[in-house]
Amino acid sequence: MDIVDLVKKAAQARVNAYAPYSGFRVGASLLTSDGEIYTGCNVENISYGATCCAERIVIFKAVSEGRKQFKAIAIASDLEDFIYPCGICRQVIVEFGVPIIVVSNSKGEYIKYNSHDLLPYAFDRID
Ligand code: THU
Repeated sequence: MDIVDLVKKAAQARVNAYAPYSGFRVGASLLTSDGEIYTGCNVENISYGATCCAERIVIFKAVSEGRKQFKAIAIASDLEDFIYPCGICRQVIVEFGVPIIVVSNSKGEYIKYNSHDLLPYAFDRID
């Protein structure tokens, strides 16, 4: 897996962000087990709660097109600091078994995590 390429794709996807309320652009890229890369960005709404993060957008895009096996998700923003997924997105990332989360900063530097390390004691069973 070329992580640098995955991070670049997340940074490119960021430019499509619809973020007129926060002004905070986020991009995400998702590598499937077949080696395909999906991309997504955050999409906001004037009813703020209707906003969807880039990470969930990209996962929902891929799942809705029949992809269910993933290798990694990368996230990019305009921040000098690394961008980490919110709690809801961590839950969705774990739901679909994406094993690796790659966070990046505006310089393109990145850190790789095991998803379960970013969501310890995840809610993962109802029986
Ligand atoms: N956002 C994401 O898309 N991903 C994150 O990991 C954090 C937050 C978006 C949601 C909202 O559009 C904006 O960033 C500010 O919270």
